[in-house]
Amino acid sequence: MNPYLPTAYRPENDVVHACLKHLSSTLDWSAIQQQATPWVQSVRENPPPFWAMESLLKEYPISSAEGLALMRLAEALLRVPDAPTAIALTADQLGRADFEGAADSALARLSSAAIALSKYFLPEQNTQATGLTQGLAAKLGAKTVVAATLRAVQLLGKQFVLGQTITEAQEVAANSRKRMTHLRFSYDMLGEGARTMSDADRYFKSYQNAIEQIANKTDASQNPAMSDGISIKLSALHPRYEHTQKSRVMTELVPRVWSLCEQAARSNINLTVDAEEVDRLELSLEVFETILSRIAQQHPTWGGFGLALQAYQSRALALIESVVNLARKHRVKLMCRLVKGAYWDAEIKRAQELGLPFYPVFTHKHHTDISYLACAKAMLGANDVLYSQFATHNAATIAAILQMAITLGAPKTAFELQRLHGMGEGVYREVLKDKSTQCRVYAPVGAHKDLLAYLVRRLLENGANSSFVHQLADESVGLDLLLQTPLHATASSGITLPSNLFQSSRQTPERVNSAGTDLADATMFNSFESALKDLTVEPVSQFELSQLNTVLTEANAGFREWASTPVAQRSAILLTAAEQLETQQHRFASLLVKEAYKTWGDAISEVREAIDFLRYYAIQAQQIMRPIALDGPTGESNFLQLKPRGIWVCISPWNFPLAIFLGQVSAALATGNCVIAKPAEQTPAIAQAAIQLLIQAGVPQDALQMCHGAGETVGAALVAQKDIAGVVFTGSTPVAKIINRNLAAKDGAIIPLIAETGGINAMVVDSSALPEQVCDAVIQSAFRSAGQRCSALRLLCVHEAIADNVIEMILGAAKELIVGESHRLSTDIGPVIDTEAADSIYRLVDQIKGARLTSAPTQKTVNLGATYLSPMAFEVAQIDDVKAEIFGPILQIVRWKDDPQLVIEKINALGFGLTLGIQTRIDSRAAQMAEAANI
Ligand code: FAD
Ligand code: 2OP
Repeated sequence: MNPYLPTAYRPENDVVHACLKHLSSTLDWSAIQQQATPWVQSVRENPPPFWAMESLLKEYPISSAEGLALMRLAEALLRVPDAPTAIALTADQLGRADFEGAADSALARLSSAAIALSKYFLPEQNTQATGLTQGLAAKLGAKTVVAATLRAVQLLGKQFVLGQTITEAQEVAANSRKRMTHLRFSYDMLGEGARTMSDADRYFKSYQNAIEQIANKTDASQNPAMSDGISIKLSALHPRYEHTQKSRVMTELVPRVWSLCEQAARSNINLTVDAEEVDRLELSLEVFETILSRIAQQHPTWGGFGLALQAYQSRALALIESVVNLARKHRVKLMCRLVKGAYWDAEIKRAQELGLPFYPVFTHKHHTDISYLACAKAMLGANDVLYSQFATHNAATIAAILQMAITLGAPKTAFELQRLHGMGEGVYREVLKDKSTQCRVYAPVGAHKDLLAYLVRRLLENGANSSFVHQLADESVGLDLLLQTPLHATASSGITLPSNLFQSSRQTPERVNSAGTDLADATMFNSFESALKDLTVEPVSQFELSQLNTVLTEANAGFREWASTPVAQRSAILLTAAEQLETQQHRFASLLVKEAYKTWGDAISEVREAIDFLRYYAIQAQQIMRPIALDGPTGESNFLQLKPRGIWVCISPWNFPLAIFLGQVSAALATGNCVIAKPAEQTPAIAQAAIQLLIQAGVPQDALQMCHGAGETVGAALVAQKDIAGVVFTGSTPVAKIINRNLAAKDGAIIPLIAETGGINAMVVDSSALPEQVCDAVIQSAFRSAGQRCSALRLLCVHEAIADNVIEMILGAAKELIVGESHRLSTDIGPVIDTEAADSIYRLVDQIKGARLTSAPTQKTVNLGATYLSPMAFEVAQIDDVKAEIFGPILQIVRWKDDPQLVIEKINALGFGLTLGIQTRIDSRAAQMAEAANI
């Protein structure tokens, strides 16, 4: 358990009440409204220069098709290197390629808006704001529209960047100070989320250079609060700034941060560490404490080290208290920037994907505002160690802070307000008429290619209906609403909780989502580690073929009883098993780590998948087994009804020994069939535990039996029995074919076979795709799980215009992966299942017709009986050079140009079709490719 913080997963309402209690009666909201009203009135009457952008985002909020298209273009268009793709992307997002007709469609309106926006920024065109009509757009033609849109998007991006270089930004800042002498800046060198060490090195050098330049223009004898400073993102400085890589972060990232801090301390300028995703918070606190202790020893009088803290986090108030305690403990004065938080959408999505018990961020906007004010109070009350910096564009929040400071007796020199460059100019123009109020501008600096992630956050922020700047631009939002008090708790969650995610599907009964774990939360993870310590893997006895008749006799008897058990009862038993599996998730995940060499992340996901399967089939069976009355002539009653078939042989693989095992078995059981399960030879203990789980939940023993042994003997003998009603098989294509032939050769009834086999799974990437997103997806799919998923990526087809960059990034990211024992949290790639699997991978690797890209040694490493392989990548000349599925962390890459449909045709010709990835920002292209693919 991290000593500093409570868990992030607590009921929202409890946290909000605690914040309200902390605020008690500090604020007089009607006085706040009174103070803010003239500011916002004045902004509406006399809008700032870039009001057009805010109005545009108001007209096309991100939730509308137009707003989304605008954002997509802003995010993608400038980085597309080749003209045909740029045209295809613009045409796709603006609605049609030739801009003719459909003048009243929403997308046509957007195209005129894009052109209008371009024109707004293109004084050299010298046309009226309303002059570019749909007709003119049609006359201009697609190429001109692309050029105009490009320009518009470039300028939209420019709105948020102070300069391309730090020198340029400093010049702009100096000009602003001619008008507003007391303005300060915190420069942000764009770039974040390094995927490779060379990216991290580049960002590090850019911070070093910026600090030097800021220092050159700063009087070192001045208090750092009074001069310009720098903001840095830790994710830019290391490719693995993640909780699982803590020891690397402490040994490799901390020295980098410390070196920047020393440089800033020597020049006496402020260096603030930005706040990023919630799962990095605890790690960042450990980094801070290390830095703080060094500052205390080596630069005790500096006072320029700063942190950004996010009020939207449910543990924001606790975080402020921890930071204050740390500052007092080390006797270091800190600068502390309070923000609401810029990653809200991503946090919501992550919590849903992980099935977390609550959201780590508030789900009502006014709850974030309450938390912000409660944190502000805590900060102002700690001005012995904190210099408070309140970052907000919200006039009501600003007025509340100013009032609170007076009430708490904090002088205007004890804190400053902050805004982002390109936002909130209007409100601050009014607020800063009081010259005693201090203000700093956060000023991004850099080239467009490093702006994208930042730009998307700004567009989401400006375009959200709930945002203050958005509402301020919307004259239809009255001042009462705009400045209304946030100080009330709302009991229900503003967003469906992750556990209820599937409850809107109108299925009855509704399916509960499986509960997941945040591995960054030490309280949650510790239970898994202790379960592993307590685990003993019991040996499972081999099945004797001489017992086959007994098993079949019992199964036949079991079938009669189980098939006549009402489906509701069978479902209830499976639902109970799901509950029990959830309760015992720690033990099952540990078993997966130990017996199947799963990493923790993979093991927990697999247990969740198994729980989902149990619930899914339990609910599906109730629906599909219901008799359906059919129409017919008078006097007849016609029903369509599904019936159980008999005994199913379920043969499952070692790569998902719990999820696929339980998926097969529960589908058969739910529909009233009985099961003889043959688990993979490598993972019988997991299967045994799953069988026990089902039997304890109420499945009769003779309806569910397990025969552990080799496929060629036990599996083959089961398939050969005349009494069986069907076979479910997941595994290799050659074995599926053998089973298929054996079943076909049998006398008597035709026996169904359900087979899920492997394939050469491809991903097609065009030049509109974001390289970082491609890189993450490739690393995850091709290399994680040691490539031992039937769905793993084997063949990457990347457009030649971005191939060099994408391949370099993938290779750099692959180099950072940790291959090791699966029970270590830091391990990304555990062992392959056994030496036989490794040998087969090597045999196939030797046959690859391409150039090796990875420098990793090809020798396998064997340690304590486990076999480890490093990820490998090869570049091959053409798609049909890829002949066989290689079931390991091996990727083959092909470059393509011209027609993406041809790529799909070649992939189809490989003859597989299990999974396909498509990475493009061109929606219509994605749809066409998916349609054409044989999957
Ligand atoms: P408001 O409109 O009052 O608030 C908008 C905010 O409310 C959203 O950004 C979100 O945080 C929250 N919100 C929106 N909808 C909901 C909802 N449904 N439920 C709960 N909460 C919701 N952000 C970072 O994450 N890390 C940083 O390091 C960082 N540094 C910054 C530095 C400066 C100087 C500034 C000005 C901003 C910084 N930001 C940072 C961005 C900041 O988080 C946003 O600009 C800020 O949230 C906008 O808040 P507001 O008070 O201006 O607007
Ligand atoms: C962001 O990058 C400003 O740090 C904040 O969104």
